[in-house]
Amino acid sequence: MGYDPGLKKLITRVEASRPARVAAVKRGEHFRSLTLEERDELLKAFHPDFRADAKRELRVGLNKGAVYPNELVDLLESRSRLDVAAVDLERVDYDVDLLIVGGGGAGCSAALAASDAGVEDILIATKLRLGDANTMMAEGGIQAADKENDSPVIHYLDVVGGGRFANRPDVVEALVQDAPLVIAWLEKLGVMFDKTADGTMRTLHGGGTSRKRMHSCGDITGAEIMRTLRDEVECRPSIKILEFAPAVEIIKDQEGKAAGAVLYDLDREQYVVVRAKCTVISTGGFGRLHLMGFPTTNHYGATADGLAMAYHAGCELVFLESSQFHPTGAIYPEQIVGLLITEKIRGAGAQFLNVEGEQFVYPLETRDVASSALIRECAPSEKGGRGKGVITPSGRVGIWLDSPMIDILRGPGTVRSDFPGKFRMYDNHGIDISREPMLIYPTLHYQNGGVTINADASSQDVEGLYFAGEVAGGIHGQNRLMGNSLLDVCVFGRRAGASAAAKIPTVELGALSLEHVRKWDEEVARAGLESERSAPILFPDYRGKVM
Ligand code: FUM
Repeated sequence: MGYDPGLKKLITRVEASRPARVAAVKRGEHFRSLTLEERDELLKAFHPDFRADAKRELRVGLNKGAVYPNELVDLLESRSRLDVAAVDLERVDYDVDLLIVGGGGAGCSAALAASDAGVEDILIATKLRLGDANTMMAEGGIQAADKENDSPVIHYLDVVGGGRFANRPDVVEALVQDAPLVIAWLEKLGVMFDKTADGTMRTLHGGGTSRKRMHSCGDITGAEIMRTLRDEVECRPSIKILEFAPAVEIIKDQEGKAAGAVLYDLDREQYVVVRAKCTVISTGGFGRLHLMGFPTTNHYGATADGLAMAYHAGCELVFLESSQFHPTGAIYPEQIVGLLITEKIRGAGAQFLNVEGEQFVYPLETRDVASSALIRECAPSEKGGRGKGVITPSGRVGIWLDSPMIDILRGPGTVRSDFPGKFRMYDNHGIDISREPMLIYPTLHYQNGGVTINADASSQDVEGLYFAGEVAGGIHGQNRLMGNSLLDVCVFGRRAGASAAAKIPTVELGALSLEHVRKWDEEVARAGLESERSAPILFPDYRGKVM
């Protein structure tokens, strides 16, 4: 299929401005990055986080009064999808030491750490198949300060700068301190990181990083990490795996400690009761809620199930007023709308260009700033924008990402060798991204906030409960940097598994209870919020919608 004649004509403007842009990069000149004041102004005017019309106040639960995107409030104000009366807690289907809900990178890391610490009875329950998760879809890399010109302290400063200075210090410290250990651990398990001929790790910049600390495996870093973790989990006798069995509520004991979960067996269409001495929730984020109608990079199961269950169980949420929109989601052709184009492409030299073929923003601004600049460039002048986006045949508006710059700057064949995933994806649609630019626009990518945790991944509010990965909040403040998500799933997954392992020998569970769920439903009813909606939703509903 390729580009239609209209878009091909516009590409000639990109080609016309390219020699001067290449020459500037070779002279070491870059498009000016914004000052802190300019960033602030741009965010407030154009970042979706600041769209008051798309948000409202939450009326129930611990975070009552917080203002979140409408789609998230809809979820958090829903009654439980579990009919408590339909569950017999006396009939326990699985009785284990450790239940891990979620089979992505965080869940597998937790299982491996617990198994390493001697826990012999671990159950991973996952909504789809083991490894069907955002970890699998992560592309560009994983950050770790393990080079001589870098340190965890510098990494810390970058994380906090990127997070609009809102991050919780104790969890950021955990993230950056564990990062070099995580890279060594993954390598030992078998992850094939990109290296130079002498065996040195190849590292690149991401948006907002002050050192080149992005370790990668081509542009399929997440798939390589997930493959490795999954293989390792599958060969440990201490870890059982239950697929197509999403959790629908956390179970507590009569003292209020976490004591397992009620799962829903999608094949048999029946509830499953799991009693567990400790429970890890690693269910991922909320991309499939499609906040404000944005498409998403996220996998099909990313419906914030863990957030809903944790909220019903009395856990506090943090930083959910901000969401991450990745600047480079595909918008052409239609079949790939919303899918991720890795930031690593910009780390390697690709630039953003408007319909005139002009640069308008430094390519490696943090994601929130870059997305806002793209939205401004595309918005019509009556909405304060510049009206310089490229219109696709279906009427979408976007920006060019000039990937052919990479081969010119780094040598012919680099796009194909370093970005095999993206090269193939576009090649399937008749576009050679080493010769033609891509058309992109911000896409919903990441849940910056989540459930409040301590540095050991334990819940701040419920004993025996742990959170790891995107469901947990505080680490990334109000905007995560590239490569800190693959890191976060491993760091807090491992911490959750190790912390649970230390706790398990001390746990005496009382009688199982779903009283908190019954009380939740009462609170929703008292607030006059009863509706057709229930949570967790488990799967997105696309009936009648175009994303
Ligand atoms: O752009 C990317 O490759 C995404 C990475 C991330 O979200 O960490």
